[in-house]
Amino acid sequence: MAGVSELNRRAFSGIQPTADSLHLGNYLGALKQWVELQSSFQCVYSVVDLHALTVGPDPAALRQRVRATAAQFLAAGVDPERSILFIQSQVPEHAMLTWLLNCITGFGEAGRMTQFKDKSARLGEKGVTVGLFDYPVLMAADILLYDAHVVPVGEDQRQHLELSRDLAERLNARYGEGTAVVPEAYIVKSTAKIYDLQDPTAKMSKTGHPSGIIELLDEPKVIAKRIKAAVTDSGMEITWDPENKPGIANLLSIYSALTGKSPQQLVQEYEGKMYGHLKVDLADVAVEALRPFREKTALFLADPSQLDAILDQGAARASEIARQVYGRVAQRFGVSVPR
Ligand code: AMP
Ligand code: TRP
Repeated sequence: MAGVSELNRRAFSGIQPTADSLHLGNYLGALKQWVELQSSFQCVYSVVDLHALTVGPDPAALRQRVRATAAQFLAAGVDPERSILFIQSQVPEHAMLTWLLNCITGFGEAGRMTQFKDKSARLGEKGVTVGLFDYPVLMAADILLYDAHVVPVGEDQRQHLELSRDLAERLNARYGEGTAVVPEAYIVKSTAKIYDLQDPTAKMSKTGHPSGIIELLDEPKVIAKRIKAAVTDSGMEITWDPENKPGIANLLSIYSALTGKSPQQLVQEYEGKMYGHLKVDLADVAVEALRPFREKTALFLADPSQLDAILDQGAARASEIARQVYGRVAQRFGVSVPR
């Protein structure tokens, strides 16, 4: 873990406001690390609403989800005194830097992104927009705009992070050292990929079947029910065997991340017990872990003027950095910098 001296180094990350509630994969894969990194980095966290436009959301729903997502960041422990919390569309330099990066990104390079390939296969040719294709370049702009050194994300973002690094290196090679900071992915192995409760070979995702995901704002009885109904594997013994027992391994990973006990320690505690015992206990653990989260989110949403003040202040602080970094890069490209 980084020392105090790294407080002058930056972390950046974002989550899309595409659902009313974040899910356990978002929390354990990303948000939990966001909160922890605050003591060692200057952190910049964003509700990336421009990214969310790539799925064509209803404007009113988008507006509502932006606020709900910001409230959940705060409820999870993002501290607006220490960190910068803002809405991406409030800082126009994100779109501006994207254009510059578009002009140094290969068409084939962008076309190789597996998330784009998956999503476009699902949508069919008519549904695929240029925005969806450009999504990873916008993500690179987000990161490079803050000279971020580390980017806490889940495993599914690794390839996008690689593209961000390639673009940063290209900027430095073409326009001189110091044009961009080359970012590093910060991916915690044990929670890098939380799996669907009904299909433990697929990642937990908001596009999956509802019974396979735990939404952080779900009612306690829904959380308990979904965990108790999780698909487990053949056999009876509780062992740590991600390959052959992906269902049990997923439950153990979640249990471990929520309690701080290692999977091996849990296996010992459950020696001789049945899958059902593990599920009943994990249901309690998850309900209790998420109860304060739900309550705090409701409090932040109940006070719109406080939430607006936090987001406005975050946008002002983000803009200061973004303007400066964009200016540096634009100048090197030979285009003018807005006054
Ligand atoms: P998104 O909702 O796609 O904006 O994702 C927000 C963050 O959650 C990203 O850092 C993802 O990598 C992370 N994430 C999403 N799903 C999972 C999952 N099933 N396991 C671990 N991390 C995830
Ligand atoms: N693409 C990320 C996701 O779907 C969200 C995101 C957008 C992001 N911009 C970012 C993550 C910058 C990290 C850094 O999860």
